[in-house]
Amino acid sequence: MFKNFQLIVLGLLSFVASAFSQTPVYLDVNKPIENRVEDALSRMTLKEKVAMIHAQSKFSSAGVPRLGIPENWMSDGPHGIRQEVLWDEWNGADWTNDSCTAFPALTCLSATWNPEMSALYGKSIGEEARYRNKNVLLGPGVNIYRTPLNGRNFEYFGEDPYLTSQMVVPYIKGVQSNGVASCVKHYVLNNQEKWRGHINVIVNDRAFHEIYLAPFKAAVQKGGCWAIMGSYNQYKHQHCCHNQYTINQILKHDWDFDGVVISDWGGVHNTEQAIHNGLDMEFGTGTNGMNLGKKNAYNYYYLANPYLKLIKEEKVGTTELNDKVRRVLRLVFRTTMSKNRPLGSFGTKEHAMAGREIAQEGIVLLQNNSLKKTGKILPVDLNKIKNILVVGENAVKRMTIGGGSSSLKAKYEISPLEGIKDLVGNKAKITYAPGYQSPTHAEQDKVGAKAPKQKKISPEILRAEAVTAAKDADVVLYIGGLNKNSFQDSEGSDRTTMDLPYDQNKLISALIEANPRLAVIILSGNAVSMPWVNKVPAILEAWYDGTEAGNAIASILFGEINPSGKLPFTFPVKLQDNGAIALNAYPGDSINEEYKEGIFVGYRWADKENIEPLFAFGHGLSYTTFKYGKPTADKKTMTIDGTITFTVNVKNTGNRKGKEVVQLYISDLKSTLPRPVKELKGFKKIELAPDEEKTVSITINKDALSYYNDIKQEWVAEPGKFIALIGSSSRNIKGKVPFELK
Ligand code: BGC
Repeated sequence: MFKNFQLIVLGLLSFVASAFSQTPVYLDVNKPIENRVEDALSRMTLKEKVAMIHAQSKFSSAGVPRLGIPENWMSDGPHGIRQEVLWDEWNGADWTNDSCTAFPALTCLSATWNPEMSALYGKSIGEEARYRNKNVLLGPGVNIYRTPLNGRNFEYFGEDPYLTSQMVVPYIKGVQSNGVASCVKHYVLNNQEKWRGHINVIVNDRAFHEIYLAPFKAAVQKGGCWAIMGSYNQYKHQHCCHNQYTINQILKHDWDFDGVVISDWGGVHNTEQAIHNGLDMEFGTGTNGMNLGKKNAYNYYYLANPYLKLIKEEKVGTTELNDKVRRVLRLVFRTTMSKNRPLGSFGTKEHAMAGREIAQEGIVLLQNNSLKKTGKILPVDLNKIKNILVVGENAVKRMTIGGGSSSLKAKYEISPLEGIKDLVGNKAKITYAPGYQSPTHAEQDKVGAKAPKQKKISPEILRAEAVTAAKDADVVLYIGGLNKNSFQDSEGSDRTTMDLPYDQNKLISALIEANPRLAVIILSGNAVSMPWVNKVPAILEAWYDGTEAGNAIASILFGEINPSGKLPFTFPVKLQDNGAIALNAYPGDSINEEYKEGIFVGYRWADKENIEPLFAFGHGLSYTTFKYGKPTADKKTMTIDGTITFTVNVKNTGNRKGKEVVQLYISDLKSTLPRPVKELKGFKKIELAPDEEKTVSITINKDALSYYNDIKQEWVAEPGKFIALIGSSSRNIKGKVPFELK
């Protein structure tokens, strides 16, 4: 009530002030944003207001031309700026100047465990968005990795809410420093693609707050994001694009979010709920705006004519409308009409190199065992190796294309084979054998695009060719994994298995028989099973790395760069080792899905059930070795409003410069409600020269000890005994420090 009164007074004052000055308040970039918002709002007609809150094309919404307020232009997100599509169609507009820098997938960014890389990513992609005149970037996605089957895991930051939160904040700030809003998606509980349009998720309040909401909360409260995208699925039987509980109560009331809530495309289902349950802008699909899909054409959107009609018939008032428009105006004044908005830059060398640096820090060395006779395979030593065989389709397949809305028209994309050839030059002979073949697919967003014709070769012949070639090679670099086809790492469908597709396991097993000097390089955004893990000496998780993919991968393989990525999610041995799968709690019965594993997601499940993972959360090797000293704490007892600092010395004991991620997990020894065995609550990435030693300190406060008490409906830190575990992965704990909270 008081807030409304304040706003009316502000509006009147702005109006009176503008009557006496030459520049209207809303146009005056030096005036506070809230004054500009109220002034603009006071000048708008009802029709102009309604026009502003729904799409006018695939990716834009109306401004107020009469007042010189520009349109809003959105773009996917989250790995690069999507190519221009036609006004009313998903087909590309065939512009010649919209080829972007493709940045590494968010799983790779997360695997850097380096918030500085996140800041660089956000700044760079924000510059690209700005240059292309977008004021909203549809990303990043912070949905938690719940099962290895979710087709969209590659677009997210992994399984841990703390890691995700730490990594998403600098991304948002980087994007928004360009006067471009970061639209964090998909709020909330969109953890699978199967039945995503309607599945009703049932989750207990603890898991909801501790696991699934936490990254969004950080994005809002620490990242200060200006937009949030509602998800397709339902919670408490309301679609999340207009959900009383998640949007009105949690996001806007509890977290004080003052930005816009944008629907996912086609995620709105009901005008009344869209009006009352917190949605601010409706975007959609399924129309060409004219004859096709007339029912869905823009004026027929739930927040278009149907809303106008209800207002005119006085069935609803304008309080909600004004709130929505205020938020959209705030978006405009924060972005397109803000002071000192930089100009941005696009497809630059600098951005390509930023992507390369991120990829090089994100690639994870999973295994690097020594062979009896010849030692380690990685890094490949060009002084000794003269005959290299590269096998696998992912060595040449374009990975920036496909996968759904994150598909990109990249300015260029260096394939792993190209990267390897470039780096090796004439120092060794390189032979390539595909080994297997996957179906090609048409370039996305392209008018009349057809999948390139490919000659189908029998899998047996492809396999035999590769195996024969392997016998003569000094080293075999197998580059396979998943790709962006449907039912793999792709939007709109989930995987049906954790196994590698296209009979790759058969191929890898045959290769290792032919030549033990084999390194397997997996390109994926998801965990894959590895039945051959004990036979293959070297394994690398190389993600999807964008424009500079091949150069980044080659620089790791040949040791120009020392790998330092750490897994942002668990690689289980088999699918059944995942909590949701073990409890038969995925994918639901097509109507409801209960997250029966509760808070025990990822390593929390593996710890609780004492399951040895294939590769643990936080795991990642280096070409050098690190020795951890004994960790200590600055005090034995922490007070509820105080802090405690843990310190450990880490020394590089190998002969190469390298980076290590020191990880802090907290274990609550006794609590009223069950808690995970341990949870990540701090980490630091450091660089060490050979023989160099550094002291790493990580400070925590009560937030790191708190859990969401669903009985009290609040976060609580219970006094008692805790243990700080410091290690180089969730399963490689180097030291423990007990302490107490009083
Ligand atoms: C996706 C969003 C995307 C939007 C626009 C939807 O299908 O879920 O992530 O931003 O399309 O392309």
